[in-house]
Amino acid sequence: MAMGFLRCLLAFGMTTLLASATIASERERINYLLHCSGCHQADGSGSPESGIPDMRGRIGHYLRLPEGRAYLVQVPGTSQSSLNDRDTATLLNWMVSTLSGKEVPADFAPYTRDEVTRLRGNPLADVSAARTQVITRLQQMGYRNE
Ligand code: HEC
Repeated sequence: MAMGFLRCLLAFGMTTLLASATIASERERINYLLHCSGCHQADGSGSPESGIPDMRGRIGHYLRLPEGRAYLVQVPGTSQSSLNDRDTATLLNWMVSTLSGKEVPADFAPYTRDEVTRLRGNPLADVSAARTQVITRLQQMGYRNE
């Protein structure tokens, strides 16, 4: 009887946990579709021939460098969207794990709202130079991105 009750409570707890996790990632997916997919495509493949990088299997590597981590926020598509800082942080956390989960380093600490606030206030002077610098550094470290 007591065990049955406990098991029931546990099952209920797990279901609630799973449901809230699903709803949270649904919100990120919708934000991605509304704010980013117009350029990046629903699957993150972009249009490399028109300067919109393929993010799949790549953006996780950027997290290995502080300047790469910052770049994913400072890039205009992220920093100039109409999403607030908290939604931007959770969107990026969802994006790196969804589009490039295998490349995300094991010690990755998720983006936070405060970090996004700080980086949005510190825009890149030259986006493509910043990107080239990060990619060159990653290639030197042995991570091929292109
Ligand atoms: C108007 C088109 C456009 C939209 C909308 C857009 N981006 Fe981008 N994004 C780009 C382009 C172009 C680049 C390449 C860097 C640059 O020139 O800004 C890029 C690069 C990026 C990168 C870096 C990828 C890399 O390998 O350099 C990230 C991360 C990114 N965008 C995230 C987002 C997010 C998140 C959103 C939605 C909130 C978004 N973008 C919306 C055009 C867009």
